[in-house]
Amino acid sequence: MIRGRPLRSIILVAGLVLLVLAFADAPRWLIALLGTALFLLGALTLLNRATRRPTLPDNALREASPRQAAALLDAIALPVIMVDRQGIVLSINAAAKIAYPALIQETPLSFAIRNPQLVELLNRTLSEKQAGEMELIEKVPLERSFSVRIAPVSAGEDAAMREAAIITLQDITGMRRTEQMRVDFIANASHELRTPLASIMGFVDTLQGPAKDDKAARERFLAIMAEQGQRMARLIDDLLSLSRIEQSAHVMPEADIEIITLLEAVIDGLSALAYERGVKLAFLNTKMQKMRVKGDRDELIRVFENLIENAIKYGQSGGRVDIAAMSEPSAQEAIISIRDFGPGIAPEHVPRLTERFYRVDIGTSREKGGTGLGLAIVKHILNRHRGRLRIESQPEKGATFSVILPLLLVPH
Ligand SMILES: Nc1ncnc2c1ncn2[C@@H]1O[C@H](COP(=O)(O)OP(=O)(O)O)[C@@H](O)[C@H]1O
Ligand SMILES: [Mg+2]
Repeated sequence: MIRGRPLRSIILVAGLVLLVLAFADAPRWLIALLGTALFLLGALTLLNRATRRPTLPDNALREASPRQAAALLDAIALPVIMVDRQGIVLSINAAAKIAYPALIQETPLSFAIRNPQLVELLNRTLSEKQAGEMELIEKVPLERSFSVRIAPVSAGEDAAMREAAIITLQDITGMRRTEQMRVDFIANASHELRTPLASIMGFVDTLQGPAKDDKAARERFLAIMAEQGQRMARLIDDLLSLSRIEQSAHVMPEADIEIITLLEAVIDGLSALAYERGVKLAFLNTKMQKMRVKGDRDELIRVFENLIENAIKYGQSGGRVDIAAMSEPSAQEAIISIRDFGPGIAPEHVPRLTERFYRVDIGTSREKGGTGLGLAIVKHILNRHRGRLRIESQPEKGATFSVILPLLLVPH
């Protein structure tokens, strides 16, 4: 349909033609014909107006009533707060009420958000008529970080509106936490690598200097250096595995794995270590029916190796490690538990054991060749397998680490 400007120009041109014709003594029928056409066009325009669908103007907020504006603001997922020059809250959207339940209309913003920098930025924004940004860090009741943007409101005819500002908050707590974890991780990893490296460098100096011609000392130092080198290699291997597992974190492994056979192989592989430490490894399910899970063979071997090795090393004093597997058909889960009878773990440490580099006792872990990454790797592998790790421990009575994996249901 013809609308707006084109229509107006048609009417204008037609009117002009009619005028010319009237003065030019044109025949009556021609004038009548043109008049009718003009009338029809006019009628059409009116009809068009009446049936036109109401559309939102280009700037819906500017032409909206306060109630419409509030509804539009509520639809925005970010917390939005509107304040006047004195810092009094004019309006708040739904997300802002959730982020700051203490925010109340017609009360000072500082009652709910106590932050001098925010007030300063607000004043600056209003006096300079220019948007500004800052990061707002809250400590209580929870630690949260917001990226804050304050913009002066330029629309609005009345003086009060012209003096207002819109504050938009974006919760960046998760992002900051991830960043902090990465920084800590790099610091920890570097520290763990630097310790054996410093030891190697120290022995190199000694061997080049004071112990140059001391054959016995050389043999001893070289053995320590080899040991420290191996420690660095283990650490790098663990770091690489962790990053590889993290990269494939969202890809569910596909292979069909039989757990009992896999466990037998892992137990065989660790029998020499167990013998050396005077620990008896007992697999309680030798006649058990097979259990299948969807998984990655190498990664599952890694899980059980880590757990059984920990049980042998840290539970050595108990002299025995029991490994049991059972299926929970109702929950469609396979549960594999590794139980030792050593000193166990105090309850305050249990929730943190799967954190990278977390160790109950760094000295003991180092002495036993640990990197502090074993359980973190276990947790990541199990997450990828949609499984979980359960840790139960009674100090002085030992610890039980249970791996729970979803069973693969094979049609009969
Ligand atoms: N079976 C266990 N009994 C007692 N403590 C354990 C046991 N398994 C793990 N731990 C504790 O958990 C810590 C973290 O284990 P892990 O991530 O495998 O690192 P690592 O063995 O390299 O030190 C160990 O240093 C140890 O303090
Ligand atoms: Mg370990």
